[in-house]
Amino acid sequence: MSCAPGEPCEEGRTRRRALAVLGLMGVIFVALSTVSFLDSRGQAVPAAVSYAGFDAVQGKRVFQAYNCMGCHTIVGNGAYFGPDLTGIYGKVGPAWLEAFLPSAGAWPTSGAVALQLRNEAIATASGVHSIDDYLAKYPAAAERIERRGGHASSMPNLPLSHAEIGQLIAFLEYTSKMNTEGWPPTPRVNGLAYSRAAPMAAAASTLVPASTPAAAAPTAAAPETAGARGAQIALETGCTACHARDTGRLVGPGWGGLYGAEVALADGSKIRADDAYLTQSIVDPDARIVAGYAPHLMPSYAGMLDDEEVAALVAYIRSLGGEHP
Ligand code: HEC
Ligand code: HEC
Repeated sequence: MSCAPGEPCEEGRTRRRALAVLGLMGVIFVALSTVSFLDSRGQAVPAAVSYAGFDAVQGKRVFQAYNCMGCHTIVGNGAYFGPDLTGIYGKVGPAWLEAFLPSAGAWPTSGAVALQLRNEAIATASGVHSIDDYLAKYPAAAERIERRGGHASSMPNLPLSHAEIGQLIAFLEYTSKMNTEGWPPTPRVNGLAYSRAAPMAAAASTLVPASTPAAAAPTAAAPETAGARGAQIALETGCTACHARDTGRLVGPGWGGLYGAEVALADGSKIRADDAYLTQSIVDPDARIVAGYAPHLMPSYAGMLDDEEVAALVAYIRSLGGEHP
């Protein structure tokens, strides 16, 4: 391209200016792209977040493997069947999530959350050791226990292993630490007529948590049999989210008629469900797996329930029928 001789020639200058602007834009683009990869902008990075020794990056894989996003929104992506999970860790805290995720078909009671706090790693991550302090620190957990604790939830029971639960919580800790600039917005729920937003009648959570030391001593006014106490512990600690009183299958096998019966185990052997077997099933669930069930589903209660509480649970299971040798 050239200018006709003798005429004013603007084209060369315009072209140079356009190239200079383009070059400047290119430099700005490269600079901003580089800055967006710097960790130093105060954003949480998944590699730096871990929960009780579990890794947030691993947790994202678990989140994808179970397709949680098929029902939940997280950081702006996903579906709307379940609630947004972006900030859930910061709101309800790790002990509530530990109590909810293994048996999501039922909402945790305060007893189930109190039990999690007996685990040192969970208590440390929560920053508190007693259930009262926990509920004060995480009002959203208190609100969920108050409103729905002990009732059925619409989330399916997923066959999550202990490690997967820890990893998921690490991932949720990460998303809750992200600076999302105020997203998701707080929903305005004034005048909400949805029945599940209202407190449910007779929540099991209104019972005193059996696991607090004060409640562990039987009150003189209500002398209880071990079986009745076991029934209360089973409800409060969340066993009944996974075990039915009859022979029905929930996440785990039903307890009806179990005592004294022959149990077929996954390794092909059989064992009689006596006190020793039931005790071991509670404190070391992975030692023997019932045929037809996956290992690592039932949480271990070793160090969380004391001997007296385990014995009361066994007495309760005994009272649900079966042979009495
Ligand atoms: C089939 C759909 C579905 C899938 C899959 C699913 N959820 Fe849910 N989840 C729900 C529903 C529905 C609720 C609300 C239950 C209710 O209100 O009764 C819920 C509730 C929750 C809550 C409590 C939220 C709150 O605000 O109280 C958490 C935490 C949660 N889900 C985590 C997960 C994780 C983690 C996964 C994947 C491992 C997952 N969910 C997979 C449907 C699902
Ligand atoms: C997250 C679900 C879940 C929770 C919560 C749970 N369990 Fe289990 N439980 C299972 C599963 C799954 C099995 C079968 C696999 C196995 O043997 O570990 C099982 C097995 C058992 C067995 C052996 C049953 C049989 O038919 O031989 C006993 C006893 C038992 N659990 C007691 C308890 C007690 C007591 C609690 C509460 C302190 C409890 N479980 C809480 C899932 C759960």
